Amino acid sequence: MKICVLPGDGIGPEIMAEAVRVLKALDLKFEMEEAHLGGCAVDAAGDPYPEATQRLAQAADAVLLGAVGGPKWDTLARELRPERGLLGIRKQLGLFANLRPAILYPELANASTLKPEVVAGLDILIVRELTGDIYFGQPRGIELRDGERYGFNTMHYTESEIRRILRVAFEAARKRSKKLCSVDKMNVLETTQLWRDVANETAPEYPDVELSHMLVDNAAMQLVRNPKQFDVMVTGNMFGDILSDEASMLTGSIGMLPSASLDSNNKGLYEPSHGSAPDIAGQGVANPLATILSAAMMLRYTFAQEAAALRIESAVKKVLAQGYRTGDIYEPGTQKVGTKAMGDAVLAAL
Ligand code: IPM
Ligand code: MG
Repeated sequence: MKICVLPGDGIGPEIMAEAVRVLKALDLKFEMEEAHLGGCAVDAAGDPYPEATQRLAQAADAVLLGAVGGPKWDTLARELRPERGLLGIRKQLGLFANLRPAILYPELANASTLKPEVVAGLDILIVRELTGDIYFGQPRGIELRDGERYGFNTMHYTESEIRRILRVAFEAARKRSKKLCSVDKMNVLETTQLWRDVANETAPEYPDVELSHMLVDNAAMQLVRNPKQFDVMVTGNMFGDILSDEASMLTGSIGMLPSASLDSNNKGLYEPSHGSAPDIAGQGVANPLATILSAAMMLRYTFAQEAAALRIESAVKKVLAQGYRTGDIYEPGTQKVGTKAMGDAVLAAL
């Protein structure tokens, strides 16, 4: 079980240290090697996804990532930005299936800005296509045309790209409540008309799953109006980027949410859904639970170690029940702890 560990930028190294401690505490044999991705890689090697990192990531069975980015690198040329490193590793490793769960832990019901009855028991899985769409479409650029600047991007999907992500979503729905909502903008965009057509053509392969469709603007609205109507949602790269941030914030605690990005052989990159939080970096106060839960997802999806994954997830539930909270999920009456103390609590609960 070879893991490429990429702590990244901002709070990345702090939260990763706790996830690595948790992995080492399991009675499993991992080979872990660290490398740079994002801003730290630009600083160390002049490239957000340097060759040494590429070699490690390609040779590993799974990649565990902290977070990338920060104001320090915001003014760099586009190809040197930390985000480019993230997009590069996703594309190079063919990680087309991004699974983003949004779960409301009962102990954190007050963290949501929505009324408790609207979000109580919330458990949504967003399946986002991750290597296509307008994110990677050519042509793209900013040019001078007719004496003014002209910006352009290209949205496109092939039917095979759509079918393979739909299949991942149907399979996921099959293991949950057998309801799948596909999100598109077919009233305006041809690419997403094709998306809807291919979704309908794929549906007969999964007669036990009920497929529905929703336009993305309505989906954004329904997510705050009545999020519990959804179970598994599937959508393209750009809509998925937006809707998954929205869904995660329904829980009020993005610091709790893990994610997985998988190829077709269950090799995966696992990372917290939140960013690098430069404002609190280096202070030892960041919430390591999303990264720890990402490690659990890695054990489940790449290494088929369901028991170990459940062990970590139960330990996280236990520390919440015990009242331990980092600043992002703190409320009066609970015990505020820092990154390392939260890691200690999880280790004790393990
Ligand atoms: C995400 C992020 C990335 C994306 C950025 C950092 C490139 O927002 O993982 O959702 O847009 O995919
Ligand atoms: Mg995003």
